[in-house]
Formats: sequence, structure tokens, C-alpha cells
Amino acid sequence: MLWVSTLGEIPKIKTEIPGPKAKKIISESKKYLITTTRFDSLVISRAENDIIEDVDGNIFIDFAAGIAVTNTGHRNKVIVDAIIKQLDRYIHSAPHDFFDDLQYKVAKKLTEITPGAFPKKVFFGNSGTEAIEAAIKIAKYSTKRFRFISFIRGFHGRTHGSLALTASKPVHKRGLFYTMPGVVHVPYAYCYRCPFGLDPSNCNFRCAKFIEEQVLDTFLPPDEVAAIFMEPIQGEGGYIVPPDGFVRNVKRIAEKYDILFVDDEIQSGFWRSGKPFAIEHYNVVPDIITVAKSIANGVPLSAAISKSELDFDTKGVHSSTFGGNALALAAAIANIEYFEREKIGERVTKLGKQALSILNEFKEETEIVGDVRGKGLMIGVEIVKNKDSKEYATKIRDKICNEALKRGLILLPAGKSALRIAPPLTIREQIFDKGLEILMSIISDIEKGKI
Ligand SMILES: Cc1ncc(COP(=O)(O)O)c(C=O)c1O
Repeated sequence: MLWVSTLGEIPKIKTEIPGPKAKKIISESKKYLITTTRFDSLVISRAENDIIEDVDGNIFIDFAAGIAVTNTGHRNKVIVDAIIKQLDRYIHSAPHDFFDDLQYKVAKKLTEITPGAFPKKVFFGNSGTEAIEAAIKIAKYSTKRFRFISFIRGFHGRTHGSLALTASKPVHKRGLFYTMPGVVHVPYAYCYRCPFGLDPSNCNFRCAKFIEEQVLDTFLPPDEVAAIFMEPIQGEGGYIVPPDGFVRNVKRIAEKYDILFVDDEIQSGFWRSGKPFAIEHYNVVPDIITVAKSIANGVPLSAAISKSELDFDTKGVHSSTFGGNALALAAAIANIEYFEREKIGERVTKLGKQALSILNEFKEETEIVGDVRGKGLMIGVEIVKNKDSKEYATKIRDKICNEALKRGLILLPAGKSALRIAPPLTIREQIFDKGLEILMSIISDIEKGKI
């Protein structure tokens, strides 16, 4: 049950942000918590579906979904009930050492809903980066090759293997040299800022060709490349949507050289783009798919789903103590069934189209909205100093995020100057529209010099 019954009460801001109680918790936390990516702003007290209340009683519209995690809404009752039911059975079973009736059910479901009509096998981990580490090991071990290709602005995680594939911000790597050796980064189809300065309407996918002509033909022996890792929509790097032909051309190159194609759906997966997995928009079938974030709607779980033939030929090469935890698996089953039963994909496609049209119309009236792009409810709004120069406007983008909180909207940045719109996929339409209105009013006020 939502504790806020009238839509008119959402959002509700009654203190400065952070408020007095939040400030106290933030200052205590900073004494004990290592520095990561936390903002000095939101201190959550409770959440439900599309709203979050902070410790000072402020109520926010959630356009972040815990970074694309709570896709079926905060504390979705169906999922909460499944977790409680599992709590009465057991919590931990050492899932990689013993079998149970949950692991194979979730694994079977994942092999059915992911693209590719061939036998698949599943490794369970806890976080996105663990799914990527598993994919790296599966690719290395099965191909007996040890080099990788990934994309500029791509984000695959922060442990040393996944960090080697990541190339979205210098801060992720500074002071940490060196990570896993053998990764080459190549340009992604970021058409708003084409890395080759070309017009996307007649570029002939130069960025894809670059991989073959300038990398594999010159310094990276293709027969040593185990896998190409790609996000079908770049997340952390700026919510960048590549054209279909780019993804298909990369897959064609991978096939030509027997290189595995790893599709990182950690942010774009589970109906976020309108389809179960974003790669399905391009009709490309990957060899390995990595998922995490929204698989269990907030309970930590991740998976690497690969062609069965890539399975390890012996026990012990890879494993995990917690991966495939019983509470997470119970949540995942309920969650995936919920997506399917409630036809979440249809509503995401509809809401996403409406939002893109509203935001694109708004873009025409402004000078600082350079680009609006997205699929489903994975929408990026790129803020620029002006449309002609397309100069990045990082400070203005950050100001928009800060002001959004003050007006009751949780909005996250992405890349150098984009905003990401990634609400729970169950967001109520009126709440979604209110969130968009708040965002647009902030941008208008900035242009008018009011803030
Ligand atoms: C596409 C993608 N891959 C991997 C990761 C890493 O996931 P985690 O933070 O759970 O390790 C992320 C996290 O944002 C992501 O967006």
C-alpha cells in the first residue's frame, strides 16, 4: 500500500535538501564509509513503487530506480511476498556447492527469455562486475585466447578485469594502473558526437569498420581475441543509443574471426528498453549475455548466460560463495514472472515513445538540450552550452540534477553532460509526467537565468 494516497502530494519538499536529519547521517557516515560515488543529498527512509521518502519526510519522484535496478517498482508486493516465503525456508545454501530447487528454475527461465534458440548455461554472481568477470573467464577458458575488445565510453564494472574493459571516465582508472592486460578500446557509434566527424546518414558505419581495418588488420591479432564486450545502449557513458547497423556490423566482424560477442545488459536488460533485452532491438544474438541490477528488483543477483558449449570442462575453475543466494533467486522468479504477466514491455514502449516526443519537442524550444535519445524508459538528455558548438555543459547538467532534488525529482547524471531518465518501469503515468514537467521547468528556468 502506498502511504501517500493523493497524487497531489507527490512530490513534497518541506526542508532544504539535505534536511537536518539527513545532514547528520551524512556527516556520521563520512567518518566510517569509504569514499565511493555517494552524493551529499538523499538519505532514504522508505520507498514504494515510484516514490522515495527521505529521513526528513521529503517525498521524491524516482527517475533513477536505484540506477536501473527497481524496474518493477520499489518493494513490489509480489516480490516482497516471494522473499518472505523464502525466508521461512532457508537463506543461504552455498549455492555453488549444493543444488536446490531455485537455481535451475531461474537459470532455465533466463535461458528461455534471452535471445538465441540454442542450449545455454548460467553462472550466478551477486553484482554486475561479477557477471562480467565470469564472462571474461568463460571467454578466455573456452577460446584459449586472452585479448579483448571493448568500446570507448563503455562501462562494465570496477574490479580489475571489468575495469580493464571500462572506458567511460578517467576517474575510474586514475591511480589504478594497471588492470587486466590485453584490452583494446574502439570507438562506439555515438552519432551525436561522431568520433570520426561524419554524418550518420551516410557514414557507412566507419566506426564498425575501424575495428577490422585499423585494429584487427594492424596490431591486434584476431586469433588472439577471445571476445568483444558491448553495451547495446551505453549506460554510464551517457545513455547512448547506437544505430542498428553498427551493432550488426560489429557482430559480423566477431563472427568472421570466431570472436565471442558478449552483450552487457546489466543496465539495459529486463524490459528497460521495452524489450526483455536491448540487443533484441538490433536482431543480434550474442554468445554470452551479462545481467544484474534489475534481475531481482533490488536483491543482489547477477548472471552470465552463455552458450552451453562454452561451459568449463572441469570443476573449480570458477565459483562463488554467495552467487545465486536463495532470497535473490526467489525474488528473481517472482520478478521475471511479474514482467511477463503484467506486459511491462508494452507499457515501457508506450511511455518511452511519449516521453521522447515530449522531450524532443521541448528540445526545439531550448538552447541547452542538445540531444534526446533512448529506447523505452532508458532515455538520455544531453545538455550542451549551445546547440551549434555542442560544447559539453557538465556544470549545467550537475546544476539540473541538484535543482531537481530540491524540487522533488531524483535524477542521475550519465557521461560527461547527459541526464538519465530511468524510472521504475511501473511508474504511474501522472507521476512520470510530473517528473518530466519538473525537469523541463528547471531547464527553462536555467535558460531564463532564474536559477
Ligand atoms: C552496463 C554495466 N555493466 C556493469 C556494471 C557494473 O555493475 P555493478 O555496479 O553491479 O558491479 C554496470 C553498473 O552500472 C553497468 O551499467
